[in-house]
Amino acid sequence: MNQADGLPYSQACENNKQAILSVLRHGFAQATQVLEIGSGTGQHALYFAEQLPHLTWQPSDQGAYLAPLCLRVSLATHLDNLALPLTIDVMQPWPCESQQFDALFSANTLHIMSKAMVEAMFEGISQHLALGGVCCLYGPFNYQQAYSSASNREFDTWLKTRDPLSGIRDIEWIIQLAARAGMRLMADNEMPANNRLLQFLKEA
Ligand SMILES: C[S@@+](CC[C@H](N)C(=O)[O-])C[C@H]1O[C@@H](n2cnc3c(N)ncnc32)[C@H](O)[C@@H]1O
Repeated sequence: MNQADGLPYSQACENNKQAILSVLRHGFAQATQVLEIGSGTGQHALYFAEQLPHLTWQPSDQGAYLAPLCLRVSLATHLDNLALPLTIDVMQPWPCESQQFDALFSANTLHIMSKAMVEAMFEGISQHLALGGVCCLYGPFNYQQAYSSASNREFDTWLKTRDPLSGIRDIEWIIQLAARAGMRLMADNEMPANNRLLQFLKEA
């Protein structure tokens, strides 16, 4: 909790937002409508909407995250390019129906979701990301089924203790799911604390 406003607070978001922004500035330079999946506290949504005023940021979340996210966004009245959050649980039909976005962002969700949820998320992306759209996914990944650091190994153990269906995903599997959704990996950016920012382009 943030002592000042009582809303949920993520120190990790504060630590990673500038490094992520440095990639999004180029990756989302032509974007006009960004859909974020699993916005969590909304700190990323507020920061990126403020720093990227040429686009509209559409946050979303589900479950217990949603109400405080809506509150944080509704308090940010100075940001007219920040939309009120959508309720998106990737296992349910997405409420944006036939709407297409030209960019998609999600941070620290793929290792929290079960594999079935990750597959559903890519299915949703295939429906809602326009041709030529850019998809940026932030988080830890394994390479050829190996951890990229001791801290990621410990994190994965912790994740699985909390929920056996969670876990750090193999980048090769994510690239496969992306390909099925018509997306090609354009960049695998190194981020602080052994995280990556994967940048995909929707081609077909
Ligand atoms: C660790 S939090 C990350 C939040 C935020 N993106 C961040 O970087 O701090 C994991 C997020 O995944 C979301 N999530 C988990 N299961 C989901 C599902 N089935 N559909 C959509 N989002 C989901 C959670 O609601 C939560 O917002």
